[in-house]
Amino acid sequence: MTGSPDRPSAEFGRSAHRSLTLVRGEGAVLWDDRGRRYIDLGASHGAGSLGAANADVAAAIAAQARTLVYLGSGYASPVRTEFLEKLLHLLPPSFGRVFLSNSGTEAVEAGIKIARSATGRRKVVAAMRGFHGRTMGALSATWRRELREPFEPLVPGFEHVPFNDVNALEAAVDDTTALLLLEPVQGEGGVHVASEEFLRAARVVADRTGALLAFDEVQTGVARTGRMFAFERWNVLPDILLLAKSLAGGVPIGATVTSPEIEARFRGSHHSTFGGNPLACAAGIAALDFTVRERLAERAERLGAIAREKLDRLPRDRIREVRGLGLLIGVELREKVAPCLAALEERGFLAISAGATVLRLLPPLVITDQDWAAGLEAIAEVVADGSR
Ligand SMILES: Cc1ncc(COP(=O)(O)O)c(C=O)c1O
Repeated sequence: MTGSPDRPSAEFGRSAHRSLTLVRGEGAVLWDDRGRRYIDLGASHGAGSLGAANADVAAAIAAQARTLVYLGSGYASPVRTEFLEKLLHLLPPSFGRVFLSNSGTEAVEAGIKIARSATGRRKVVAAMRGFHGRTMGALSATWRRELREPFEPLVPGFEHVPFNDVNALEAAVDDTTALLLLEPVQGEGGVHVASEEFLRAARVVADRTGALLAFDEVQTGVARTGRMFAFERWNVLPDILLLAKSLAGGVPIGATVTSPEIEARFRGSHHSTFGGNPLACAAGIAALDFTVRERLAERAERLGAIAREKLDRLPRDRIREVRGLGLLIGVELREKVAPCLAALEERGFLAISAGATVLRLLPPLVITDQDWAAGLEAIAEVVADGSR
């Protein structure tokens, strides 16, 4: 029971006291070490789209573990080939190359390196309130000062423009810019959806200046927003697509997707020992098959619409705004969100925040209609009656 109140945690950077020790799950339901049942409304920040112990993913991992657990990336692997084919099959034909890694931040690092190398330029333009990870390159693109400051100096050459501000974007991106890095929906930054005008302007300015455009879909990717990839909504194609979180059903993975043309301009090398390892690829095949077969994008769209219907009716003296796409929803309160999260936990619902005042909902996409309705009802009660 590491992390239980009477025993300090051995994990670096974790407080000794953690309120919950979770031991198992099924779909969107989790159980703690005392047998108490919770409905998961946060899906491990989006990594758990397919649920806590997806049977298809579990079977694929078990079969692969009995076959071949590791393989140097210098060797061909049928399971890696199949995974890459499946992933590329879901994307427009301009994408034809994938660098596999183990996390979102690594996917971003690879994107930055590819852009700098392929363009021979160094400037990276990202957005205020954006989040791209915590390794030094990705952190340099991340906006929040308290995440950055203790680790300065960060990587030079990064600038931030206000999200959805077309003029600022056009002023910042020039012919020294290697990369324009944007989230189609800012998740950690408070669930802010990009305007169509902003993303279209990003494509135009990147084309005009020769900068590469990357969409960080680590959180929005793979059916979360009601499309397989959020960019499909706007029909604006990036040069580089960054994926991670739920791509392999909760097994660590990162993917930096780009085109053969950009690969041809890449100089230098980039590598990861575990990137594209057979276990993650086997899990990824099962996860993509499941996502397509179970039409999870449509499910996210439908359950998201149900949520908006309910949450838009919450009293305006308690909430400022409801934002989001599909099953990535932010409810901005007029007060701090922490007491609301605690009240939800008491009622058996685990939600997360996005900043001090935003309740963020990104449940497993497999959450049952009943559990989702119960979660929304609990939120309505907690927000509206102030009973916390
Ligand atoms: C948009 C975005 N990019 C990158 C990351 C970093 O991913 P990871 O925690 O897997 O390194 C996150 C994590 O929340 C994210 O939301």
